[in-house]
Amino acid sequence: MDVAKRGARVVIASRNLEKSNKVKDEIIKESGNHEVRAMQVDLEDFDSVKKFAKQFEESEEHLDYLVNSAGMVLEGMTKYEINRILVVNYFSRFLLINLLLDKMKKQSAERPVRIIDLTSDLYKYVEVKESDLTKDPKGFVDPFLMFGKADLADIQFIHNLMHS
Ligand SMILES: NC(=O)c1ccc[n+]([C@@H]2O[C@H](COP(=O)([O-])OP(=O)(O)OC[C@H]3O[C@@H](n4cnc5c(N)ncnc54)[C@H](OP(=O)(O)O)[C@@H]3O)[C@@H](O)[C@H]2O)c1
Repeated sequence: MDVAKRGARVVIASRNLEKSNKVKDEIIKESGNHEVRAMQVDLEDFDSVKKFAKQFEESEEHLDYLVNSAGMVLEGMTKYEINRILVVNYFSRFLLINLLLDKMKKQSAERPVRIIDLTSDLYKYVEVKESDLTKDPKGFVDPFLMFGKADLADIQFIHNLMHS
């Protein structure tokens, strides 16, 4: 809302388009800014992330701020047989940023670009081994431990991106 009130074009990316369209209408009503769009993306589904990135790239002129906020702590596996927490909180962010990176790099020559990733401080209490990301855990997995691992992997990725 605050960003819309400042006059920015806002794209809301969420898995529930109906819910986002209601929010979009509220933002337009309260801010008076009609430059608000809702787009669908399910972060548990890499195909959906790819589709979103393609549609965004083809239809949006600028990407000034990419805010990765969506996250969850629910047990289970995705259809890829990868832990859901890792997919939503890390792999899909990694995929989305990489798919939009060329657009952001090109744009950065003429106007600033920022990526904002929200994480928790659970990353402080975990380690990430390569096997955490490539092998499915067996038996019970503490969701908060997995959430911390996803956050740490995300922070390391963003750190590497900043220094690349
Ligand atoms: N809350 C805290 O105390 C806290 C503390 C530290 C850090 N953070 C960080 O802040 C961020 C936001 O947290 P929050 O507390 O605002 O979370 P939240 O209220 O639970 O909201 C999470 C959002 O993620 C979306 N989401 C979940 N799974 C998704 C999927 N598969 N595809 C697309 N969207 C999906 C949800 O969409 P739906 O509306 O469709 O469910 C919801 O809008 C997270 O990155 C979290 O790590 C939060």
